Amino acid sequence: MQFSVTTSTLDKPRAGIRAAGIAHKRKPAAGASALNAVRDGEIAALLKAGEMDGEAGSRLLLPGSGSKGSALLIGLGAKKDFDARAARKAAQALAAALVERPATSAAIAVADFQPRGKDIAWVVHTLVAAIAEAAYRFTPFKGKEKTTPVKLDKIQLCVERKDAEAAKKACTEAAAIATGVNRAKDLGNTPPNVCYPESLADTAREMAKQYKQLKATVLDEKDLEKLGAGAILAVGKGSERPPRLIAMEYSGGKKGDAPVVLVGKGITFDTGGISLKPGAEMDEMKYDMCGAASVFGVIEACCELGLPVNVVGVVTSAENMPDGRATRPGDIVTTLSGQTVEILNTDAEGRLVLADALTWVERYKPKAVIDIATLTGACIIALGHQGAAILGNNERLAKGLLAAGEETGDRGWQLPLWPEYQEQLKSNFADMANIGGRPAGTITAACFLSRYTEDYTWAHVDIAGVAWKSGKEKGATGRPVPMLMRYLLDQA
Ligand code: BES
Ligand code: MN
Ligand code: ZN
Repeated sequence: MQFSVTTSTLDKPRAGIRAAGIAHKRKPAAGASALNAVRDGEIAALLKAGEMDGEAGSRLLLPGSGSKGSALLIGLGAKKDFDARAARKAAQALAAALVERPATSAAIAVADFQPRGKDIAWVVHTLVAAIAEAAYRFTPFKGKEKTTPVKLDKIQLCVERKDAEAAKKACTEAAAIATGVNRAKDLGNTPPNVCYPESLADTAREMAKQYKQLKATVLDEKDLEKLGAGAILAVGKGSERPPRLIAMEYSGGKKGDAPVVLVGKGITFDTGGISLKPGAEMDEMKYDMCGAASVFGVIEACCELGLPVNVVGVVTSAENMPDGRATRPGDIVTTLSGQTVEILNTDAEGRLVLADALTWVERYKPKAVIDIATLTGACIIALGHQGAAILGNNERLAKGLLAAGEETGDRGWQLPLWPEYQEQLKSNFADMANIGGRPAGTITAACFLSRYTEDYTWAHVDIAGVAWKSGKEKGATGRPVPMLMRYLLDQA
């Protein structure tokens, strides 16, 4: 999909379909007026006849003929209610209508969709994200005749001259973010017989070949043994597919500038191990690598954009399987940090692979470390599927992520990391246990991680509720790539 910005009015660019917004019971704004001109007054007549009154959620499609192209009017609702949330909904309605049409090219009157309190860059980001979202398909495992491809390929965003520069910048950013989101979705949706630690390592190597600012390093099980990464190894022991630690160093900033380090949980399948999960919906545990997928997505978006910041993406990947060689509940392992862990539940494996990775990244002397993980079912109980849980040891970093989440609609909510919770991790036999009992499961998981992050600025993002959708629309969401990219853009 190709997005571009133009200062022509909606009637000018060549496009198979042109789209404008109509506010409830209002005179047509810029977009619809321009449409009216190409359609010989048809729009004004239809509005006058009450065929479209601009109610939120309404839409009117005027099919095209010959070179005229089609026209699409999207209802925006009452002007006084047109806030960011309403604008996002309108953008989604617009996107859904565009991708189901046969047109390969579209032009959009951007300012029509601009809510109060938001600038043109925000609207451009919102439109591009909504269209990319609606156009996403995951088809590598489907027969050709079983899918209807999206025809839409070229989108022109019509803006006023005074907005052109900001819109162009936002368009470039948004297109790069969409590429990253799609990468994260593709990796998340890939079945666990095809997506496993070494295949993720291959993805990193391929990306490093594609982008010259990127360097990939892969540690295999022998390297991890030499290093003493006992926690990652313990999680991978029950699998035929050995664990990997994958580092992607993106050098977009000044040489020597401390990098932002992202650490992604990459459990390519989580059976629970010997603490086996129940069977229902276990297939969804292929998504237990969505933290890692988001790291790949962010790194790709940074490369596409040439973001002037140094970013390191680290993926800590293993497959959590039950087996004769698998880790048992009760086993004690020594982590890379030297601290020992009594593994009371082999299903609390994410924090183990993260612990070693979080120690390993100290070598980068990071400006900040953000780990992203589908870490706890408790996070879904706390926040449902609306927001990620954010915790950490630095208020500024946490607040920066929260703000980035609000801006993009890829939201997070902060939970406390009060020291009292640490007591729940007490073990009679080791430095800590890997579980903290039923209360505050998301927080005690973060407490566990906090014991490996004392030497730097750190935030933890639990994406168990937001990384994928269940049910009829089952699939990866690509979250929190938009939040993380917004955060990095704010740093640049
Ligand atoms: N990957 C799961 C967390 C999860 C569960 C994410 C359901 C999304 C949906 C994680 O490895 C896990 O199993 N966590 C356990 C921890 C418990 C044993 C302390 C959990 O949340 O039940
Ligand atoms: Mn688990
Ligand atoms: Zn897991």
